[in-house]
Amino acid sequence: MATINVDVKNVLGTVTAEQIQAINPEAADGLRKVYDGSGLGNDFLGWVSLPSEITDAHLADLEATAKSLNENCDYVVAVGIGGSYLGAKAVIEALSDQFAALRPEGDFRRTRVLFAGQNIGEDYLSELQDFLTDKRFGIIVISKSGTTTEPAIAFRLLKEQLEAQVGKAEAAKRIVAITDARKGALRQLATEEGYKTFVIPDNVGGRFSVLTPVGLLPIAVAGFNIRELVKGACLMENATKDADVESNPSLLYAETRNALYRAGKKVEILVNYNPKLHFFGEWWKQLYGESEGKDGKGIFPASVDFSTDLHSMGQWIQEGERTIFETVLSVENVERKVVIPSDAANLDGLNYLAGKRVDQVNKMAELGTRIAHVDGGVPVIRITVPALREQYLGELIYFFEKACGISGYILGVNPFNQPGVEAYKRNMFALLEKPGYEEETKAIKARI
Ligand code: PA5
Repeated sequence: MATINVDVKNVLGTVTAEQIQAINPEAADGLRKVYDGSGLGNDFLGWVSLPSEITDAHLADLEATAKSLNENCDYVVAVGIGGSYLGAKAVIEALSDQFAALRPEGDFRRTRVLFAGQNIGEDYLSELQDFLTDKRFGIIVISKSGTTTEPAIAFRLLKEQLEAQVGKAEAAKRIVAITDARKGALRQLATEEGYKTFVIPDNVGGRFSVLTPVGLLPIAVAGFNIRELVKGACLMENATKDADVESNPSLLYAETRNALYRAGKKVEILVNYNPKLHFFGEWWKQLYGESEGKDGKGIFPASVDFSTDLHSMGQWIQEGERTIFETVLSVENVERKVVIPSDAANLDGLNYLAGKRVDQVNKMAELGTRIAHVDGGVPVIRITVPALREQYLGELIYFFEKACGISGYILGVNPFNQPGVEAYKRNMFALLEKPGYEEETKAIKARI
C-alpha cells in the first residue's frame, strides 16, 4: 500500500469542500484521458504505466552499468539539463549525507555524482575541469533530443578531458549515453564511439523521465536502491488508478489546487522543512511549470526551504498579496537523532528545549507556521511522507506526475508539450550566428 498522505482541510477557509468536489468530474475525466489517450499530448503518456513495466532485466542492466562505473570512477559527471538533470539531482540530494563532498577522499563509501550541462557557466565548467584533473572520472551524458546546447558544450569539454587523461579507448568504457533510440547527434556519436547506451522512450517527455535510465542510472551510481524507488512508484501507480477521490491522492491534490486557482490563488509554493528536499522543489517546479504554464494560463510554481526562508520570504508569505497557497511536504521521521543539551549558564535561554530533539523543534516550527499562514489567508495542502527513503520518494514522484497530468487536463492545456521553451533558443542561435539562422540573425541584430 502507498504510504503518503494528502490533507486538504487547511484550504477550507478559502474554498469549500463543495467547490473542490465540483471539480471531481473534470478530474475523473482528466484521469480517464491519462489512461485512454484521448487528451492532448497523448503521444507522451509512456510515464503512466512506466513503473509497472520496468523489467528485472532492465534494472539489472542499470545496476551492472552503475557497478562498472563505481569500480572505475571516483566521480561520475551526469551531464544534462531540465528533465535530463533535475530528477536524478532531486533524489540523490534527498538521500545523501549533505557533507559527503567535504569528507576526505580516503573516506569514500561510494562514487560521487557531480552534475554539468545544467548551465552555461564558464567558471562552473572551468572549476569542474580543474577539479577533475587527475581524478578517476566517468560521464553519463543525458539528452533526449541529443541536440541541447548546454549539455552538448559540457560533454564536448569533459569528453576531451577524459580522453586526454585516460586515452580514447578507456574513455569510451567510462562514458554512458542516455538518449533517443534512433535520432539525434548523441545517438550517432554514441554509436560511432561504441559507448554503452540506454534509451529514453519516445513516449516519455523529459520532465516525466526520472524513472527511466535518465534518473535511475545516476541514482544507482550514487549508491541508492533503484528497485525500492521503482517499487514505491509502482505502489503509487496502483493507488492512483481509480477515479475515487477518497482513495486516489493524485486526484485529490489535482482538484484541490485547481479549486484554489479558480478562487484566485495563482501561485503555489512547495514548502519543505528538510534541506535535503531543496532540489525536490526544483524538480517539482519544472514538472508543473513546463506542464501547465501555457495558453496564458497556469498556477505559478514556486518553492521555499523552511525554516531557512521564513527568515527571508516569511514576511511576504504571511502578509503579502493573497494570491498564494502552500503545499507542504512534511517528512514524518528523520534518519538521525540529535538532542539539545542543557547548559548550566543558559545565557541563550534555550534550557526550555534541553532534552528535546532538533526535529521536535522543527515540527513545532512547521505546525506554528501552518497555523500562522492559514490565519494569514494562505491555504495549506499538506503532504506527509514517512521518511526520506527510496520507496517513499518513488511514491512521491509518481504521485506528483499523475496529479500533474490530471491537473493539466482540468486546466485545459496540453500538459506534455513545452513550445515556449524554444523562444530563447531561437534568439540565442540567431545571436550566435548558428548556420541555418541567417534570417533570424539579421532580424535580431536590427533590434539591438
Ligand atoms: O521536460 C523537458 O522536455 C525539458 O526540460 C528537457 O528535459 C530539457 O530541455 C532537456 O532536453 P534534452 O533531454 O533533449 O537535452
